[in-house]
Amino acid sequence: MVTDSRNRWNPAQYMKGAMGDLRTRPAVDLLNRVNHDNPRRVVDLGCGPGNSTMLLRGRWTDAAVTGIDNAPAMIEKASSSDTDIDWQLADIGDWQPAEPVDVIFANASLHWVPDHAGLFIRLADALAEGGVLAVQMPNNFASSSHALIGEIAERSEFRALLAGKLLGDHVQPPTFYHDLMRGLDGTVDVWETEYLQSLTGEDPVLEWVRGTALLPVQQNLTADDFATFTALYRDALKRAYPVATDGVTVFPFRRMFITFKGR
Ligand SMILES: C[S@@+](CC[C@H](N)C(=O)[O-])C[C@H]1O[C@@H](n2cnc3c(N)ncnc32)[C@H](O)[C@@H]1O
Repeated sequence: MVTDSRNRWNPAQYMKGAMGDLRTRPAVDLLNRVNHDNPRRVVDLGCGPGNSTMLLRGRWTDAAVTGIDNAPAMIEKASSSDTDIDWQLADIGDWQPAEPVDVIFANASLHWVPDHAGLFIRLADALAEGGVLAVQMPNNFASSSHALIGEIAERSEFRALLAGKLLGDHVQPPTFYHDLMRGLDGTVDVWETEYLQSLTGEDPVLEWVRGTALLPVQQNLTADDFATFTALYRDALKRAYPVATDGVTVFPFRRMFITFKGR
C-alpha cells in the first residue's frame, strides 16, 4: 500500500522545465487513440495541475469537462487557469459519477490507486453507451530509477519505515488488463511505449523522480532521514544514468496504455 501522499504533490516540481512536456506527451499519445467524436461528459481522473485536462478541453470544445484530483495543491494550481473546466477535489478510489460519462481519461494517475481489478471494472461500468476509458500508467518499476529506491529502502535504517509503502505495488502486467477488459462488453487495446527521454542539468533523474516516485519515501521519513536517503539515491543514480559527452542524460521510461471502448 502507498501511504497517503496527497499533501506532498508540488505542481511546480512536477512540471519543472522540460519535464512538463515530457510528462504531457504520453497524454497526447493516449488521447490520439481515443475514438469518440462528440462526447457530452469528459472526466480527467488525477488531473494534476491541469496539463492533461487542457488537452481534453482543446479536443472537445463542446463537452462538459471535469478534472478530479485528491491533492489540494494540484487542484489549486489547475483552477488558477481561466477555463470553464469543473475542478473537483476528490479521490479516485471512491469516485462515482452522478451520470454515465462518455470519456474517462486517466494519464499517470491510476498507479497510485489500489485494487486494479475492482477499479477498472468500476470505471468501465461508469461509461455511457459507446464511452471510452483511456488510461496511461508508468510500467518501469523494474528500471534502475525505481529499483534503486527499493534497494535503498531495504537498508536497515529505512526498512521498517518504508516496507510496503513504495510506488508501483498496484500496477499489474499488460496481459492482466487485456484479460480483464476483454471479458467486458466492448473493445480493448493495450500497448507499451518506451520513451528515451533526454534530460539535462544537475541530477536530472533525481529531479524527475522527486516529483513522483520519491513522494511516498518523503512522506514516510523524517526530514533528516529523507536527506540521507536522497544522498544515497543521488549517488546511485549518477552511476546508473551517466551524463553523455553532449550533456544529455538519457532516461528511458516505459509506459503502458489501455483503452476500452464500450458498446
Ligand atoms: C503524475 S500526476 C498526473 C497529472 C496529469 N494527469 C498528467 O497527465 O500529467 C498524478 C496525479 O494523480 C493524483 N492522484 C493520485 N492518487 C489519487 C487518488 N487516489 N485520487 C485522486 N487523485 C489522485 C495526484 O494527486 C497527481 O496530481
